[in-house]
Amino acid sequence: MSQRRKITVVGAGNVGATCAQVLATRDYADVVVVDIKEGLPEGKALDINQMGAVLGYEPNVVGSTSYEKTAGSDVVVITAGLPRSPGMSRDDLVTTNEKIVGSVAREAIAQSPGAILIIVSNPLDAMCHVAKNVSGWEKHRVFGMAGILDTARFSTFIAWKTGASVKDVTAMVLGGHGDQMVPVVSATTVGGVPLRKLVAEDAIQEMVERTAKGGGEIVNLLGTSAWYAPGAAAAQIVDAIMLDEKRVLPCTAYLEGEYGIDGLYMGVPVKLGRDGVEEIIELDLGDEERAALQASADAVREVVGVLST
Ligand code: NAI
Ligand code: 2OP
Repeated sequence: MSQRRKITVVGAGNVGATCAQVLATRDYADVVVVDIKEGLPEGKALDINQMGAVLGYEPNVVGSTSYEKTAGSDVVVITAGLPRSPGMSRDDLVTTNEKIVGSVAREAIAQSPGAILIIVSNPLDAMCHVAKNVSGWEKHRVFGMAGILDTARFSTFIAWKTGASVKDVTAMVLGGHGDQMVPVVSATTVGGVPLRKLVAEDAIQEMVERTAKGGGEIVNLLGTSAWYAPGAAAAQIVDAIMLDEKRVLPCTAYLEGEYGIDGLYMGVPVKLGRDGVEEIIELDLGDEERAALQASADAVREVVGVLST
């Protein structure tokens, strides 16, 4: 194995394997995938390595059911836990996934005490609290992925609606990763033109609604939750850290007064670089958006209140 830097992905299920696959194609670091299910991480790692011979990246993915090979990772992504099934909200997963996220976080950080921890498991905002409590790490090193996915959904709908390339859509979805998330329409543009100049308000509200329920839409179609966009979104955060990109992306960060919210993980725009969350960016929100963000914070607090830690 080479001496490249190392990324660990815990959970070799749909989201974890997709994240590992995207990171392998990026080809700047070794990737270790860990799962509790014997054979699963090893098998997926082998398959991803063999894809490298076709797509042209180095076969440096390792699968394991133990954490030894994760030692010294720069970034650890946690995707272990149950996904949603139809009829289940993200919040229904809280008790089961609290135990799983707590235990895998403990094992992973014992091997990689200098890492940055990215949480993906649901209910996302609450699981970030679990990881922060278990690790005791500073807030800039423990945060979650949700806003990139939610924003990707909103951007996709806008591209379809306007007929413009998704590359020219700039959008931002904030708040908790639940049905009360807040697509910030006032900050959404297509090629620099405000969305409200291009699309009628009722059609915008339909897209806002579809975005907020975007996870459930896929659960209803597939019987389990999405993985391609979530896996790629987690990999985008890893890129920003590993390559010190200073990207401004919506992530689930620990707020201490920003946006008038204190002591809570919520989705907000952050600057991402080698230290993780290097800055929390405060957007100028309209009154309605600010109120919606507070309502989303209330919903997150309720789930956090269910945690045993
Ligand atoms: P999955 O069921 O395909 O994979 C989860 C994996 O975790 C399984 O392979 C399972 O064996 C493993 N696992 C369970 N307990 C473990 C433990 N103690 N140690 C190591 N591995 C363990 O589920 P999927 O679709 O990959 O979703 C994973 C999580 O990500 C779910 O909680 C899901 O709700 C969440 N999610 C979050 C998103 C977000 O935007 N934050 C988006 C999509 C999914
Ligand atoms: C999603 O938004 C279920 O959180 C998952 O697809």
